[in-house]
This record gives sequence, structure tokens and C-alpha cells, in this order.
Amino acid sequence: MKKLMVDLGERSYPILIGQGISADVVKHLVDSGIRPSSPLLIVTDQNVAAHHLQPLQEALQAGGYRTHDYVIPAGESSKSLANLEEIIGVALEAGLDRSSVIVALGGGVVGDLAGFVAASYMRGIRFVQVPTTILAHDSSVGGKVAVNHRLAKNVIGAFHQPELVLYDTELLQTLPEREVKAGLAEVVKEGLILDKEYVEWFSDHLDELLKLDPTTLENALFEACRIKAEVVSQDEKESGLREVLNLGHTIGHALEAVTSYKTFLHGEAVAVGLIGAAKLSEAFGRPASITEKTRELVARIGCPASIPAELSTDAILEAMMHDKKFREGRMTFILPLDIGRVEINRKVTIDQVRQVIDELKQEG
Ligand SMILES: NC(=O)c1ccc[n+]([C@@H]2O[C@H](COP(=O)([O-])OP(=O)(O)OC[C@H]3O[C@@H](n4cnc5c(N)ncnc54)[C@H](O)[C@@H]3O)[C@@H](O)[C@H]2O)c1
Ligand SMILES: [Zn+2]
Repeated sequence: MKKLMVDLGERSYPILIGQGISADVVKHLVDSGIRPSSPLLIVTDQNVAAHHLQPLQEALQAGGYRTHDYVIPAGESSKSLANLEEIIGVALEAGLDRSSVIVALGGGVVGDLAGFVAASYMRGIRFVQVPTTILAHDSSVGGKVAVNHRLAKNVIGAFHQPELVLYDTELLQTLPEREVKAGLAEVVKEGLILDKEYVEWFSDHLDELLKLDPTTLENALFEACRIKAEVVSQDEKESGLREVLNLGHTIGHALEAVTSYKTFLHGEAVAVGLIGAAKLSEAFGRPASITEKTRELVARIGCPASIPAELSTDAILEAMMHDKKFREGRMTFILPLDIGRVEINRKVTIDQVRQVIDELKQEG
């Protein structure tokens, strides 16, 4: 088992990563000061519940915890105000009080929703994340929790740090292959931002990662969380530096939006965006070798590397303009300077982006 402290002063918390560690959930809760005195609510989704809810409940009950659960339908549309209200009703009926804890058992959808319930219930109670996707390494660091509005994603939310993250690689063994690949694209993104050595290690161990080898996965998730935590602890509330984490996301978010979140998984859209960012950096004099390396990684992961030709370039550009990350109407892109090094670039022109989108359409 590996342990990483996310260093946020009073709000610091540990991320534990290892094979089978959720079986010892009681020990880990007690170590984090969470005792069985108040009722506890597990929030999860249908797919995760089918595999992993019962063992977790049983372990908690054996430790004397009074557990309740709420199972949402799988998928992004569950990150809704309607579900927030519903879960708060369940929490009230179950008698959750200010010293209760909410356990988020699932991927980023469950983490964001359950975390926001915890942030708002009785003005904030404690929560624990038990991530079950590779992509959720991202949502387990940083404390961003949210639900979606019908007009935009993640616009109703808060910063609420968990007490503990229990990342059990055993729970990831049931992940569908496409989710594995999309998650790995987001993992390698962390390296592309800040850590060349990690990108090399990732590339050398990619075959084991795709097979979900527990030890390799433990190392990969640890390093990905470590890199993100390093950035977040310097900029908890996203005033500047944290922007670098959006490498690949400007194009990625636009692709998700124009396809109504139906064509690309988030990590897949980011994979295309990573190649797009590398291409854009060439316009600022960076070597094409960055693009080639990025493209090679994306291809080996098995994520899409191109934009479907039928998508309108104008629609993609339009979607980018609506991205909440656009400050004062200026295009902000995170661009690679090298593998493992990025800059925040505010000089990208619409024409440069248009050209890169058109090129990405021809890669398919
Ligand atoms: N808060 C943050 O900082 C942050 C960061 C990144 C992403 N997010 C959010 O995370 C969400 C995406 O997360 P995600 O990719 O984990 O999606 P997800 O939670 O929807 O999980 C993906 C799919 O895999 C299934 N699944 C999850 N774990 C499984 C398992 N162990 N076995 C079998 N099936 C399993 C789920 O039911 C779902 O169908 C988005 O809503 C995004 O906004 C938040
Ligand atoms: Zn992302």
C-alpha cells in the first residue's frame, strides 16, 4: 500500500492506494478519526453497486457502523440537482447528523455528486472517497465537487476536501476496457504537464497498465495523484497555477459539448485535445517531436487520436468560446514546451485553433 498526503494545511488528507485495502475500511476510517457513532451513507451507482457495494457494507457493519446506501443510475446525467435533493432526503430520513460521513463509492460522477451532498448537507459534513475508476484519480485530488445544470456542466458546486481517499486497485478490475483506456489518457496527461520521467515510466509499463496489473496500477495512480496534488496544494482554489491541469481540455471539452457528451468519454476527448495542444505548440516554435510522442502514447493507450470529419469546425470553435475557462474573451491554452513541461499561453488565435481542428479531422 502507498500513502500520499495531500498537503492543504488544516484540510490535508491522505490518499491510500493499494490492492484489497477497502477490506480494511474500518481501520482506515478509525485512523482518520471517523468512528461508528453516527449513521453513515454510501452513495454509489448501479454498475459499481453490482460488484462492490455489498462487501463494503459488510465490512463497515462488522465494524459497528450503521450504514445506509443510495444507488444512482450510472452516467453523467445523475450529477443533477434532483439527485442532490433526493439524497439529502435519504440522509435526513436516515438520521445523518453533523458528525456523519458520506462515502462516495464510484467514479467521478459519484464522487462529484456525493461530495457536493457532503459539502451542502447541514452546511457541510465529512466525506470519504472510494474511487473505482482510473479517471477518478483526478477527482480524488483537489476537492472540487459539483452537479450539472441543464445549461452547463459542473456549475453548481463547491470546494470540499475529503477526509480520506481509499483507492483500492482490486475494485478497478471490473472496469470496462474503454473506461480503462480513457482513464489512462488522463493519467498520462498529469505526466505530460509536469514529469517527463513519469511519462517514460508510463510508456514502458503501458502494457501492464492496460491489463490492470495491480502493482503497476498502484504506482501509476500514486504518481498521477502526486503530480496533481503538487499543483493543487500550491493553488487550492484555482487562481492560476492550477490551470495547467487543463492540458488537452480546451479542445476536449468542446468535443464533448458538440457531441452532446455521447460520442467521447471524457478521457477520450482529452486524448484528442492532448494531440491538439501539441500541434498548437508547434505554431509557437516547439518541435514536432512533442506531437509525435503524444500521438504515439494516445495510439498505444487505444484512445481516439482524431476528430470525426463530420463535426463542424465552427461548432467546435463556438463551444470553446462558451467554455467557462475563457477569461475576458481571450483564448487560454495550456501548451507543452516539452514532454513534462507546459506554459499558460494567451496568444493563441482563432485561426491557429481552426487549422489544428482541421488537421485533427484529417488524422482519422
Ligand atoms: N472533481 C474533479 O476534480 C473532477 C476531475 C475529473 C473528472 N471529474 C468528473 O468525473 C466524471 C467522470 O468520471 P468517471 O470517468 O470516473 O465516470 P463515471 O463515474 O461515470 O464512471 C464511468 C463508468 O464506469 C462505471 N464504473 C465505475 N467504476 C466501475 C467499476 N469498478 N467496475 C465497473 N464499472 C464501473 C460507471 O458506472 C460508469 O458507467 C465527470 O462527471 C467529471 O466531471 C471531476
Ligand atoms: Zn479531465
